[in-house]
Amino acid sequence: MINQGIVNVSYIIATILFILALGGLSNQETARRGNWYGIIGMAIALIATVFGEVTANYDKLIVALLVGGSVGLLLARRVQMTQMPELVAILHSLVGVAAVAVGFANFMDPGRLAHYAGIELTIHDIETYIGVLIGAVTFSGSVIAFGKLSGRISGNPMILPARHWLNLMLLLGAIYYGYEFVQQSAAGGGLNPLIIMTVLALLFGIHMVMAIGGADMPVVVSMLNSYSGWAASATGFMLGNDLLIVTGALVGSSGAILSYIMCRAMNRKFLAVIAGGFGTESGAAAKGGGEDQGEVVPVEALETAGMLAGAKEVMIIPGYGMAVAQAQHTVFEITRTLREKGVNVRFGIHPVAGRMPGHMNVLLAEAKVPYDIVYEMDEINEDFPDVDVSVVIGANDIVNPSAQTDPESPIAGMPVLECWKGTTSIVLKRSMATGYAGVQNPLFFLDNTRMLFGDAKATLDEVLKAL
Ligand code: TAP
Repeated sequence: MINQGIVNVSYIIATILFILALGGLSNQETARRGNWYGIIGMAIALIATVFGEVTANYDKLIVALLVGGSVGLLLARRVQMTQMPELVAILHSLVGVAAVAVGFANFMDPGRLAHYAGIELTIHDIETYIGVLIGAVTFSGSVIAFGKLSGRISGNPMILPARHWLNLMLLLGAIYYGYEFVQQSAAGGGLNPLIIMTVLALLFGIHMVMAIGGADMPVVVSMLNSYSGWAASATGFMLGNDLLIVTGALVGSSGAILSYIMCRAMNRKFLAVIAGGFGTESGAAAKGGGEDQGEVVPVEALETAGMLAGAKEVMIIPGYGMAVAQAQHTVFEITRTLREKGVNVRFGIHPVAGRMPGHMNVLLAEAKVPYDIVYEMDEINEDFPDVDVSVVIGANDIVNPSAQTDPESPIAGMPVLECWKGTTSIVLKRSMATGYAGVQNPLFFLDNTRMLFGDAKATLDEVLKAL
């Protein structure tokens, strides 16, 4: 056992480390350090809690820590980079279920009525109720998000008739049972309203995420991330644990900011995302696919290498396909070779390229591509008229001109990388299949576009050899 003073100091240090971690993660060059701050902060928090707050049942705690820790370790080692959003979604569900469990345990604690009375009891009950409410929504919403992201549930939005009324009824129900809960709790009851609200909240979470289409799932994952933070914060209030309150608030607010940034990147209004009904299943039949879009012009690896070697300005646009093909190391080798030949090679990164925030940056950093040639979309979009060759590696939606030209398109208004304004675009993909949003891409049919078909790793290896 360590004394309360040491626990408090440890909590303050952990809080500072968590803030430094978030600061570090906002930049590629400091991200690794940011991760270490987070790891050390979490280790300090765990040790202080286990030896400072816990007073009994160490045997059960150790078994739970070992089981949980081993499952986490196994999952983290096994998961592919492209499956990260699913893993994150299912981990959020655990935060939700923990908040629900703590809420019920707290409520059923026989010492509750002895500890609290009058207004204090009411406040404590409201904390418990809100914690269980957010936790249950986070849990069921995250499970559905996991199902959608992993393809176990269709990515199509499920639109029920009068669904907004249904949501309103669920909300009113939650408020009514909240009132009942607080009233009955003071008289020694309250379990029934708590259970009914939990069921309503679970239904609300399912309904909310089911209504959201595939194209909006990135925003949903970060929104659930934010909810999981608020659920943890509410748990902190229930348990009177300051560190949990602060950490939950950090996760909650950073998740909310991330949702906002992603909404802006996709030109979507946050409320419109929550209202749902946007985007289709990934890889669905192309919209407008029946129309005659013209012919595509294929190109071979050898010719591609010639075009790249003869260019002065090359822009590489990576997308989800680069992650699938694991082509980042070959991309790095090609970049190095071209730079040695005096070609100015830059990378243009779309904020929602791939399947998670920063997906491309992580892969490029892993392959040791220098940070100073990797640009955000906003920084380089105006430069395309001066680019000789844009190499689009397994990207589709993020370079789709119909986002600007077709108001009917599901991705209408989403900012895109305007590679077609350069001299030539070379698109690497395996087939004419659509990307995540399921829409056909007119870029492929433009006169200044060439298609290099095949797995991106295999074709880029050939290009590298030819170079
Ligand atoms: P997508 O539009 O999904 O296009 C990826 C392309 O890669 C596909 O057209 C596919 O065509 C190709 N591809 C797949 N495997 C390949 C391989 N082994 N070799 C070569 N090509 C391959 O990707 P994007 O342009 O990166 O856009 C991202 C999309 O995902 C956006 O719609 C975004 O909203 C959504 N999203 C983003 C996130 C975040 S936070 N980044 C999360 C979830 C969803 P083939 O099948 O013909 O090869």
